[in-house]
Parts: sequence; structure tokens; C-alpha cells
Amino acid sequence: MRDEERGMRNPNFKVQNSGSLGIGVNSGLESPTCWGLPHRTPNKLGSPTLWPREIPKSQNSKFKAQSSNVRQRFAEIFGGEPAAVVRAPGRVNLIGEHTDYNDGYVLPVAIDRSILIAAAPRDDRQVVIHALDFGESVMFSLDDIGRDQAKTWSNYQRGVAYFLEERGVRLPGLNAVVVGDVPIGSGLSSSAAVEVSTAYTWHVLADFKLSRVELALLCQRAENEFVGINCGIMDQFVSALGQRDHALLIDCRSLDYQPVPLPPEAAVVVADTMKRRGLVDSEYNTRRRECREGVRILQRYLPQVQALRDVSVAQFKAQSSKLKVQRVRQRCRHIIYENERVLKSAAALRAGDLDAFGQLMNESHASLRDDYEVSCPELDIMAEAARKIDGVYGSRMTGAGFGGCTVSLVANEAIEDFRGQVAAVYEEATGIVPQIYVCRAEDGVSKL
Ligand code: GLA
Repeated sequence: MRDEERGMRNPNFKVQNSGSLGIGVNSGLESPTCWGLPHRTPNKLGSPTLWPREIPKSQNSKFKAQSSNVRQRFAEIFGGEPAAVVRAPGRVNLIGEHTDYNDGYVLPVAIDRSILIAAAPRDDRQVVIHALDFGESVMFSLDDIGRDQAKTWSNYQRGVAYFLEERGVRLPGLNAVVVGDVPIGSGLSSSAAVEVSTAYTWHVLADFKLSRVELALLCQRAENEFVGINCGIMDQFVSALGQRDHALLIDCRSLDYQPVPLPPEAAVVVADTMKRRGLVDSEYNTRRRECREGVRILQRYLPQVQALRDVSVAQFKAQSSKLKVQRVRQRCRHIIYENERVLKSAAALRAGDLDAFGQLMNESHASLRDDYEVSCPELDIMAEAARKIDGVYGSRMTGAGFGGCTVSLVANEAIEDFRGQVAAVYEEATGIVPQIYVCRAEDGVSKL
């Protein structure tokens, strides 16, 4: 297997505390985030300042309660007050699946399920983390960051520390308590939320320069190269830059982004099939390889194509017969049409056309099921059950697939029907009790 397929895990990382890293000065790079998509509008958030928009303190009472709980646990464990409590959200993707690693478009939402860290700096270079959800602790030295093969959950924090130090940031040691309510393994990106909350905690405590976009890229790198999961940029990006009451339209090539207002009359409802995503890593890498193969062939006829994002629907129609392997043709078709659906979806939301938006969600699901082949019976049953309910505009699988969650856009007055009927139909068909979450679109990472 090629490194790329395994995740670009760097074989130089040693297992647990063996090896030391160089340290240096603040590099403080900045990255402008001007918007370059169709429907170009001035992006208020797109200034090249380091933290383009200070996220106001959240009014969400749930976060206040979670914050006081984690503060209290910090005091019990370490004594004293934490210097900061940071919250980073999980995410649900409304549309644009498997497009991020094809340089395409995505439309995710940062949700009101989060990872919280209460932390205080230490005088030395030790990092002590208590993970309340696992009832476990780790301790490691910033001078000697290795992978932990026993408490693998800590590799996300270790990876972030590793790459912050690699940028030349000299981090202080940390006492930290971590807790969350993003369900693990259900495709709502708890791991991205852990990475982003960790990076932001150090940003708050050590006050080095790093834009939110850079923070997202650094966290993606930690996941790709340290943890060894070959994900795209979507999850970390929206956890860092999401906006309350908005979805985020992201161009995964340029990393330009634009907030798209969500309709107040409808809710984003996530239904967890409770099927854990067994095949996801190997199949994800296979899909990536198939997309690369499609690009390689299409480049013979369309030399300007660098990624499937560069192929229009019209070009695909004209050239699809050149893709002789049906599987590769299907994968390309999904990505190329999905990119178009994302742009149409953002336009539909802006125009308040929820029926059109829902229709695009349904088409996305069909394409993921039939062309990209990343759905599963549980996801299909859940999405179909949702669509039968009056007031459901659309429903689809969300995230990498092979289990996890569906996302539906549901008129507010239909939410109770959704909860009752979708759960009943799904349980009847599968014998599994699903979890249903009505999500609020929240801000990206912030201090509480
Ligand atoms: C996972 C990855 C993302 C993205 C989705 C599929 O969530 O982490 O980068 O590729 O799958 O859209």
C-alpha cells in the first residue's frame, strides 16, 4: 500500500516519547481568505487579519452549563481555576460529500455539539490531559512527542502539539480536562473538534500568530500525518470557521469561504443510524485512488484538469465514454455533479427555495448510494423514512458513509413527527434504536 493510501502517516514519528523536536521562534504566517466563487460578494470575514472576526461570547445556555461543569472538574482534578475554557464544534455536512479531497465545494454546518477543554499552562513542558469521557489520563513531554498506542485518543492532541512546535511555536506545558458531547464514530467529526479545540487552547494560552485557516490546515495535517487518517479539509475548517445560524460554503482548493444563512423556519436534523463506520478508512482511500485515476485519464483529453473540480458537467458528458472502467466513471460522475449541486444548493438557500435545496439533498444521496457506493442499508432506510414525512424538504447520508448519520432539512412544525416516525420506521426495519439530534448552527471554535 502507498503511504498516501494509509494516510500520510510519517514513519519518523516514534511511538511514545522517543525522540525530540527542535524549537524556534514564532513564524506568524498570515493567509488572506478572499472569496473567489461564483456569486462573488465581499467577504466580511475574508480580511487577511489573523483572527478576522472575534467570535462573541456564546449566549447558548447549554454551553454555559457545559463550561461550568468542565471548570468544576478541572478544579477537582488539578485544583484552582482553569486559565481558559475552549469549545470547538462537531459538524454536519449539508451537501458536498467526498468533494473536499477533489479540490471541490462543500457546505457544512458547525453544530451545537462540541468538545470542551478547560486548561491552564504549566511552568514546565509536560502536558497532562484528563479525558472525562474515557475516564483516562495521559502525560507527555513537549520535548519528546511520540504516538501513544494504548491511549490512541491522545494522538490528536499530540499531533497538534507536534505540528505547532514544528512551526516554531514554543508551547507551554498544559494541565487540561477534555469532555464532549459529539458522539464518537458517528461521522460528526469529534476528532476534528478535538484537534481544533486543542490548537485553539494553546493559541489562547501562548498567544502566537495563527489564522483560523492556518489552524484548520495544521489540524488536518496532524490528522493526516500524525494520527494517520487521510481526511480532507472540510471538518477542521468548519470547526474553526463555522458561523452561528449559517452553513459555510467552502472552496476546498482556494480555501475561500462564504457564510450561507440557514432558514429560520426549518431545522437541520441529524439521525444517527448507530451503525459504526467499519469500512470507512480503507474504502475512503480506495475512493481517493479511483478519483485520481479518473483525473489521470481525463487529463489526456482535458489537459488543464488538475482535479475533478476542474471538470464541468458538460465536459464530463462529452468525455465520459473515455472512462472505460465503470467504477471510475461512476466515481467521477458523483464528484462532478456533486460540486454543481453544492453551488446550486447555496444559491437555493440564499433564495429561500427550500424545496429546491431538499431536492438537491435527495439527489446527492442517490448519487452517493449508486455512483459513489458509500451508503449502506441503514442510511438508505433512514433517509427514505425521513422523506415520507410532510415537512421534510430533503434527506441524505452525511460524512464519509458506511454508517453514521443522515442529515435532513425539516420544517420546524414537522420536527416532532420526524422524531417519532423516523425513529419508529427505522427501528422496525433494523431493530436498532436511532439517536435523533435537532442541531443548531453554531460558531466555530471560541473561548467560553
Ligand atoms: C470525512 C472526511 C472529510 C470528507 C468527508 C466526506 O468526514 O474527514 O474530509 O472527505 O469524509 O465528504
